[in-house]
Parts: sequence; C-alpha cells; structure tokens
Amino acid sequence: MQMPIVAQLADIAIAARQLLTDLRPHLQARPPVVLMVPTRPHFGRYWTWPADGRTSLRDAAFTLRTGAKMPAIGFGTWRLWAKDAYQPVRWALEVGYRHIDTAEGYANEAEIGRAILDSGVPRGEIFLATKASSVPKGLADISYASDIFTFQLAQLGTDYVDLYMMHTPPSDPQLLQQVWRIMESFYEQGRARALGVSNCDVRDLQQILEFATVPPAYVQNLFKIYKPGEQIPVEDVVAFAHRNHLVVVGYSVQTEWPHIMVPLQDPHLLTIASHVGRTPSQVLHRWTLQRGVGVIPKSAKRERILENSRLLDFELTDEMMRLLDGLATLSESGASEIKPLQEDVFGLARVSAESAPQVKPNSLGLEDPRDKGFPYAAIRDHLLGDPLALDPDMCRQTCLNEPRCAAWEVCAPISPEAGCGGCYLIGHISTPPMRIPGWHAAVERSPA
Ligand SMILES: NC(=O)c1ccc[n+]([C@@H]2O[C@H](COP(=O)([O-])OP(=O)(O)OC[C@H]3O[C@@H](n4cnc5c(N)ncnc54)[C@H](OP(=O)(O)O)[C@@H]3O)[C@@H](O)[C@H]2O)c1
Repeated sequence: MQMPIVAQLADIAIAARQLLTDLRPHLQARPPVVLMVPTRPHFGRYWTWPADGRTSLRDAAFTLRTGAKMPAIGFGTWRLWAKDAYQPVRWALEVGYRHIDTAEGYANEAEIGRAILDSGVPRGEIFLATKASSVPKGLADISYASDIFTFQLAQLGTDYVDLYMMHTPPSDPQLLQQVWRIMESFYEQGRARALGVSNCDVRDLQQILEFATVPPAYVQNLFKIYKPGEQIPVEDVVAFAHRNHLVVVGYSVQTEWPHIMVPLQDPHLLTIASHVGRTPSQVLHRWTLQRGVGVIPKSAKRERILENSRLLDFELTDEMMRLLDGLATLSESGASEIKPLQEDVFGLARVSAESAPQVKPNSLGLEDPRDKGFPYAAIRDHLLGDPLALDPDMCRQTCLNEPRCAAWEVCAPISPEAGCGGCYLIGHISTPPMRIPGWHAAVERSPA
C-alpha cells in the first residue's frame, strides 16, 4: 500500500533537517567562502525600437513624466515659413506622423492649425509641440508672455498644446525663472499639457530642475553624429536628461549646420547605409532613435517626408552604432587634443600615444598649425595606407573646393612648394562602399 504524499514529504523533511543539524558544527568551523555570482546579462546601452515595419508612427512612443505618450518620430517645420507649411504638414499627417513640432518663431502656426483641421485627423491623436521663442530670446517683454501663448493657441486652432517649450534659456537666471513660472501657470491651466526646454546644456537643466515646481518633461537639442546633444566636457546632456526623467528629442540631425561637414555625405554613413539598404537620412535618424533620442525631420517634399518616416522597418547593429558614435570623437578631436567624448572606437588615443607630436616649420619658418601634436602621419600609417599623390595645382584647387580639407585636417602635411603630400578625400564618391574600421578618410584606401 502506498503512503500518502504528505507523509512521504514529512519523512524527507525530517531526514534533511537531521542531516543539516549533524553538519552544522563542521560548516561553522569552515572559513568563509567567496562565491562568484554571475553578472547580470548585458542589456546594451542602445535603445530598442520596433523594426518590424508594422508599428505605426503613433505607437513608437516615449512616455513623458506626465504619463502622456509622445511619438518618437515627429515632423519638424522650421523653415517652412507661413503658407509653405500647409501642404507638407498635410502630407506628414497623411503618411502617419502624429507629432508636429513648431515654434512661435517659425511663423507658421496658423497654417499648421489649418492643416491639422483640414486633415480630418482628430486633434486628440496628434502630439502638438510648440515653443515660446520671443520672450526667452529677449525679443519681447515678459509682460507679453501670456498674450503670446494665447495667440499661439488661437493660431494653432486649439485650446491646448501637448508640449510647450522654452525655445532657448535666457542667460539672465532671473528671467529664466520668471519665464518658467509663467509656463507653469499654462500647465496648471491645462493649456500646456507638458513643459519642455530647448538648447540647454547640463548646467541649464540643473538650474531649471532646482527651482521648477513643474519640472520639464522634455529637452530638444541639436543632435548630430559630429556633436550628439551639445555635450559639455563633464557630462553628456542626454545621459543627464534621461537620469532626470526628461525625454530627449534631437533636431537638425541631417543638416550640416553648424558644422562644415555634411552628415549625409559622411563616408562611414554612406557605407553603413549601403549595408542596411537604407538612405543616409534614414540611417542617421535610426541611429538617433537607438541612442534613445526622438527625431523631428523636416522636409518640404512629399517623397522625403515618406522616406523620413520609414525608420521602423530596419535596425542598426551595435557595431554600426559604435562606428557612428565614434565620429564625434573624430570631429571633436583637434590638433592638440583627442577627445573621446564617446567611446574612442577608432582608437585615436592609442594611435596618438604611440607617436610623438610632429611640429615642423614650413617654408616661411612658421609652424604648420595642421601638423601640431595631432598624429596625422601615424594615423595614416596605422589605418590608411598610402595617400593619393596629387600635383600641387590640383591639391590647391581641390582644397579650395573641399571644405573638409580644412575642417578635418586629414591630408598629409602641406608644403607650399611641393603641394600636398597626399590626400585621402578626393575622389571618394566613386569609391565603392566598404566597411573600414578606421579613420573616416580611409575611403581612399583601395580594398585589400
Ligand atoms: N529648438 C530649436 O532651436 C530648433 C532648431 C532647429 C530645428 N528645430 C526643429 O527640428 C526640426 C528638424 O531640424 P532641421 O529642420 O534643422 O533639420 P533636418 O530635418 O535635420 O534637415 C532638414 C533639411 O534636410 C533636407 N532633407 C529632409 N529630408 C531629407 C532626406 N530624406 N534626404 C536628404 N535631405 C533631406 C531638407 O530639405 P527639403 O525640405 O528640401 O526636403 C532640409 O534642407 C526643425 O524643422 C524644427 O522643427 C528646432
């Protein structure tokens, strides 16, 4: 006959307790043991977004600290002045954008309001963000702040905006606080459902967070491969914002402003774009998203509005992300210093440490500033192979037409008599795309 299961378990428990009791003196006499606990799996520092091609632009969203959802891909409207804004906003809404970014300073709120109304998309489905431009920029007296906001709402044809942001923090801390207080009153009235800031560094954010009763939920900053998020040396503004529950949105992701280099022509980017079969613009915006930063690309053209919305059907690998991240280190490094603001993925610091600074006087007896401290020759030898030899006339002419010659300082040292000692830039357009884990100018190197 079988014993009931409870009785079997009771016997096992009694035996186990007896065993432990017998072992206790022995265990207590043993020295403490250090146990290695397996580390947590690495979750990666990049953000994951849908890549299935089925997720709508509305559903790939950030949650603001207010609890509201904000689509991560919005439509920017700077330089769509006045009536130029109407048709692109209509197209954007047709394509599926549900987040529109404008500003008092863009002079297009009335047209955007009309486009929203005519689109037939319910107001409640659209995340509408606008900015207080004139008062924070000192172009209007603060006593007008409330009237201006009321006017903006009237122009937009709505009685609330989903986000109202300070276009630029005033440098006067008193004015900064006064403007914020007024914005807080709009929030309390329900006319601004969340508050945000723009063009802020970490110090600005710290200042606002200290006095704010309604803390900012959002920061909109310049964000590009050569300078992601306006960093200051001590801290990355995006990391600071995320730690303090601010959603970050990047602007001017694809324009060259304020740099000379055109991101959309960056050889690394072109190479990665051809690998993933997407356009350079799409790769830049997907890179931004995977950095945890929302995007608001602007275009006046229907096909580009559509192109810029197609960011949820592909993914960049961590390796591609790291290569793109590394461009900030390249562009921020200069003749005297290598600044790995991001991971120094191209190994510039190592190459630099291995080579002595080269300071040579040129034929006029002046030190060539392009050859001071920064190890161009070492980088060339280490990563690039031989430069393309050019005759002096061609070198000079090409340099005149090629702003990157000066901006990137990547040619072998110039000699006024002999022309350049070699060039890595010229002719790269015709080079077939390939992935080279090195200095960006390595596009001149022929495939091994
Ligand atoms: N807070 C601030 O201070 C601030 C400052 C600047 C911008 N913003 C906001 O951020 C938004 C985006 O910034 P942004 O307008 O400076 O720059 P962006 O969206 O990075 O670039 C716009 C430029 O790129 C072109 N373009 C658009 N799509 C393209 C594509 N797929 N391929 C190639 N070129 C393309 C556009 O030309 P076409 O129009 O001819 O297509 C336009 O010249 C603004 O519209 C605005 O809402 C905010």
